[in-house]
Amino acid sequence: MDIEKVCLITFSATHTSRRVGEAIVQGINGSEVSCVDVTLNGCGTLRLEEDTVVVVTVPVYGGHVAPLALERLKTLESAGSPTVITVVYGNRAYEKALEELDAFVSARGFKVIAGGTFIGEHSYSTSVYPIAEGRPDAGDLEYAESFGAKVRTKIMSAPAPDKLYGVDVRRILRPRQPFFPLFRFLRKMVKLRKSGVVMPRVPVVDATKCTHCGYCSGHCPNGAIVKGDECNTLADRCIRCCACVKGCPQQARVFETPFSPLLSGCFTRPKENRIIL
Ligand SMILES: Cc1cc2nc3c(=O)[nH]c(=O)nc-3n(C[C@H](O)[C@H](O)[C@H](O)COP(=O)(O)O)c2cc1C
Ligand code: SF4
Ligand code: SF4
Repeated sequence: MDIEKVCLITFSATHTSRRVGEAIVQGINGSEVSCVDVTLNGCGTLRLEEDTVVVVTVPVYGGHVAPLALERLKTLESAGSPTVITVVYGNRAYEKALEELDAFVSARGFKVIAGGTFIGEHSYSTSVYPIAEGRPDAGDLEYAESFGAKVRTKIMSAPAPDKLYGVDVRRILRPRQPFFPLFRFLRKMVKLRKSGVVMPRVPVVDATKCTHCGYCSGHCPNGAIVKGDECNTLADRCIRCCACVKGCPQQARVFETPFSPLLSGCFTRPKENRIIL
């Protein structure tokens, strides 16, 4: 089976999922590449045909696929496009996210032929409390590209689309997780919950640093920052994705959550990317 059209579908507030997806697409090496990025807007009614190889990459929020990503992608459909699904998570755990994504795209007619779980710098990572800082790094992207090349081989060696076999993503190998750091994390989580500490709902803005450049209002996935009023954040719209924090050229926005030290202290060992096809 030949490969011409390849379409990357992604939601990626801090760009790690998108970068992983782009590397996979590069490895698949189709002649006609397109990208549907739903970080800022939905995709409208979008139908992909069997002749298009699809790569879906989305982040993990709270062990699930980021809810806004699923909301934005609910109008997607396909007539059996061979599809690679990948979740990107911040070195803690992805729990059921890959299975969720599998069920979501399968229900819309996509044929899942490969799956991946990749590490991306945690949205709550800071210079003081780094969590998977700098990932995906060059090694991760090389791995993602080689995954794409394997997907290409799988597709090319199928005599016809109906002979391309699907994959059971539940059988993917989970990354190694040492017991004691996980135990420490769970214990600290219980303590945090019991302490009654109020969790921040939005990033804090240092008005003396803000130049009103408009980057944050233009890049907030859920319209939580109004142009011209960038020092305020609408709490009921903020999904705490940290796109504004990481993208602010003046470092005027910070999201100080007790999760940063907690995750940074408990998940220091870099987890491995995993694939199945
Ligand atoms: C609200 C929220 C919840 C998150 N939950 C998890 C999680 O459960 N496990 C994990 O390992 N990382 C978690 N992360 C980290 C992201 O999965 C990670 O930073 C990912 O690379 C972000 O993708 P993006 O750059 O495409 O936005 C969470 C991030 C946010 C903002
Ligand atoms: S990105 Fe930073 S400097 Fe620019 S408007 Fe937003 S808070 Fe202000
Ligand atoms: S205001 Fe909230 S939702 Fe908008 S970019 Fe910042 S953290 Fe994300």
